[in-house]
Amino acid sequence: MIGYLPLAASLFTILFSRSVHADAKRALDTNFPDPCVIKTDAGYYAFGTAGNGVNIQVARSDDFSSWDLLSDTDALPGPFPDWVASEPNTWAPDVIKRGDGKYVMYFSASSSEDNSKHCVGAATSSSITGPYTPEDDPLACRLDKGGAIDADGFDDGGDLYVVYKVDGNSLNGDGTMHPTPIMLQAVNEDGVTPNGDPVQLLDRTDADGPVVEAPSLKKSGGTYFLTFSSNMYDTPQYDVSYATASSVKGPYTKADEPLLVSGDPSDVGSLTAPGGSDFSVDESKIVFHAFKNGHDINDGRAMYAADINLSGDTISIV
Ligand SMILES: *[C@@H]1O[C@H](CO)[C@@H](O)[C@H](O)[C@H]1NC(C)=O
Repeated sequence: MIGYLPLAASLFTILFSRSVHADAKRALDTNFPDPCVIKTDAGYYAFGTAGNGVNIQVARSDDFSSWDLLSDTDALPGPFPDWVASEPNTWAPDVIKRGDGKYVMYFSASSSEDNSKHCVGAATSSSITGPYTPEDDPLACRLDKGGAIDADGFDDGGDLYVVYKVDGNSLNGDGTMHPTPIMLQAVNEDGVTPNGDPVQLLDRTDADGPVVEAPSLKKSGGTYFLTFSSNMYDTPQYDVSYATASSVKGPYTKADEPLLVSGDPSDVGSLTAPGGSDFSVDESKIVFHAFKNGHDINDGRAMYAADINLSGDTISIV
């Protein structure tokens, strides 16, 4: 009998690890692009780009598995400060909780100075679902470089940062590929006041197509993990890639393999154009989007959720 035990044990391991290995799961069956996730005492909250009639969408989950769109809630209803265009066209929110218990939302909105470009702003609320009140001044604009989008807050053991993308490809109509650097901006403990000049963490190379964008930053075991998307968001080449560094300011080394690409599995079939990923604060989860109808962007981008493992220099879906 003894001889059979290791066999039984390894069979059990195979079956059990298969049954617990979960693919990414469709979290919301609606258009909810560029999601972020935050865990609170009242459950998980996700925020997404303008859609379903509101500027910033909100969804909630008790268990990270079953999600509800809070369809009557606009987390960022306005009024907006002067730097925001009359049509705010708000994109890619990220929410953090700062030391005094208030929530800070980073968002991108069209610039009143040039509404073909976006700037990154911050807004605060004492309630997770808002309404968030925008700051009078943007955090980053870079209009001469194409604008600034895709802000993500990061707490490095009490030092707060915002990473964002300089939206250089908004200038690509001139026939050249402009830089789309991912920048790191230190902010004061209020989360909204820039502290010093931003530093560049990464930029596109030919392997990334026209862009790197949608950064999210997390530290685990002494390693900084920077996820980002490359290629164009409305094509199947869009992905979730990442780079690692031993210092928050880099240098960052791109991983050999993306974390998520078209064709990867989910509970509703293979993903197409996964991107816009965001880490949970406890570094065990991500949310991201992919084409809702599975083949093109015409029905929008649905939110997906996955458990991850950060180990050494590697991120894996578990
Ligand atoms: C994460 O991956 C490492 C390396 O494969 C493994 O040793 C560790 O047990 C994993 N952790 C979790 C929580 O799955």
